[in-house]
Amino acid sequence: MELVKSAHFTLAMISILLFSYRFVLLMRNPKKLSQKWLKILPHVIDTILLLTGITLMVSLSLYPGEHDWMLEKLLALVAYIFTGFYTLKWARTDAMKYLGYLGALGWFILIIKLAMTHQTMFL
Ligand code: HEM
Repeated sequence: MELVKSAHFTLAMISILLFSYRFVLLMRNPKKLSQKWLKILPHVIDTILLLTGITLMVSLSLYPGEHDWMLEKLLALVAYIFTGFYTLKWARTDAMKYLGYLGALGWFILIIKLAMTHQTMFL
């Protein structure tokens, strides 16, 4: 399982890098956001990130029903996806975009903290 865990960790880092890169383009050169590789790669990475997460959850029996940190991690994942979507698609003003990006980053950091410490923050 160590290999899957390393892959999961690496994919998580690539995911936040791609999201941050798309945020930089959004603020500086939004036309470049429609490049084909940026329409595809982030979704491929995030799908494999999710699949490796599910693989770890099932093989280590770390289910959200028994582990509050896992439940919080999945809720934080929903919030991360939502704030990410908000930042790149719905936010109208620059202030809203910055706020959305900081929000997404906060949820991402919480997800990493939960995965590493197994200590809940909200539940
Ligand atoms: C944005 C999404 C995610 C991020 C940033 C993330 C991040 C991480 C990190 C940093 C680790 C620790 C890896 C290590 O110890 O080397 C981890 C472990 C783990 N993740 Fe995720 N993860 C995400 C999504 C998911 C999902 C969707 C699931 C399950 C459905 C999941 C289940 C797990 C499990 C079971 C572990 C192993 C925990 C342990 O053995 O202590 N992750 N994750």
